[in-house]
Amino acid sequence: MSLLELNGVNKIYNPGSAHAVHAVQNLDLSVEKGEIVALLGSSGCGKTSTLRMIAGFEEASSGQMAINSKEINRLPPAKRGVAMAFEGYSLYPPLSIRENIAFALKAEKMPATEVNKQVEAIAALLEISDFLDKRPNAISGGQQQRASLGRSLIRKADLHLLDEPMGQLEPQLRALLRGRIKHYIKQHNLTAILVTHDQTEANALADRIAVMEGGVLQQFDTPENLKNKPANIFTGAFIGEPPMNLFEAGAALNDTEIHLRLGDDVKLEFPKARFSPELIERVLTNKSVVVGIRPHSVHLAETGHPAEVYANQWLGDQTHVAARFAGKSIVSVAHDRVRCGPGEQVNVQINPEDLHIFDPATGAALSHGGVLA
Ligand SMILES: Nc1ncnc2c1ncn2[C@@H]1O[C@H](COP(=O)(O)OP(=O)(O)OP(=O)(O)O)[C@@H](O)[C@H]1O
Ligand SMILES: [Mg+2]
Repeated sequence: MSLLELNGVNKIYNPGSAHAVHAVQNLDLSVEKGEIVALLGSSGCGKTSTLRMIAGFEEASSGQMAINSKEINRLPPAKRGVAMAFEGYSLYPPLSIRENIAFALKAEKMPATEVNKQVEAIAALLEISDFLDKRPNAISGGQQQRASLGRSLIRKADLHLLDEPMGQLEPQLRALLRGRIKHYIKQHNLTAILVTHDQTEANALADRIAVMEGGVLQQFDTPENLKNKPANIFTGAFIGEPPMNLFEAGAALNDTEIHLRLGDDVKLEFPKARFSPELIERVLTNKSVVVGIRPHSVHLAETGHPAEVYANQWLGDQTHVAARFAGKSIVSVAHDRVRCGPGEQVNVQINPEDLHIFDPATGAALSHGGVLA
């Protein structure tokens, strides 16, 4: 049994009114003990609503929620065994940062020397040691946010719920802290759900990522599978920077080859042997499909399909080249400096093992790298 189980959970705000919002739709989610799960998605996709229902700050409109096999739907927040770091779940103003972080440990009657040791350790980890004796209103928003995170992480709880815990920090500090926080969570065998809209943060911290859009879970999988085996067009385009190139294509076969026609002018030809027989039979026989190719898999070479460059950006460690291709644009990423400017012709090469093929009607993935999804 998983530590947390959500079954068919819905959240409808203002039900029955003209302002009804179906913020979370039929959500199934399970979190194992010791796991870090990220809820990832764009603004308004339902991440905070999900977390607040688990915490008990919002009631689920329907569905079951259980922690350690015990239903929590009607338990008050304090009885759910969760620790939270939320935006707006603020620190107690009259207490110093040290007292705020120590609060739960003192309530458990932990000896003062041990409390101090733990508070100092978490403060060092979060780079807030210098502010421990200040009051919340005397430190910055980013410092308060770290204090709030420390107060949550230090607690013994079945489940830690962290809503954008580093949202106010600059990129360098976030990058430093996410490594430390992951190590701390794993070392203390905590279980955590982390809400973020930053895919780098989700990839770096989480064992599994739940990708949400419009209140609907799109895919719940490891970072690796989200990248290599996106379940649908949404996840394919959402995960990965820059986004996956997508083309509508018609598929046709002859005895030895598969032809994918992209737009009016591009015909990709691949040996049949590079695709599984089931894929050829079930998907690629005179079908319309959507073909996805990651920018890192679009190679500019001496030979290939001609494309006309319209933008070239050097980002310091990689080049992004955008070119007109198949009536649309295609983006290629290379890790060295590629010198070609707007108006120049380049040649695009694509390998069959880099193709993702989707159903144009449902958006569902049909195949990755030449085998059925
Ligand atoms: N109290 C509320 N009353 C009515 N609608 C709400 C309420 N809280 C959230 N919503 C709506 O529910 C949807 C999901 O909101 P939620 O806060 O869960 O999104 P989120 O994924 O956390 O977004 P963000 O990244 O911006 O924090 C949004 O359309 C939002 O406007
Ligand atoms: Mg939110």
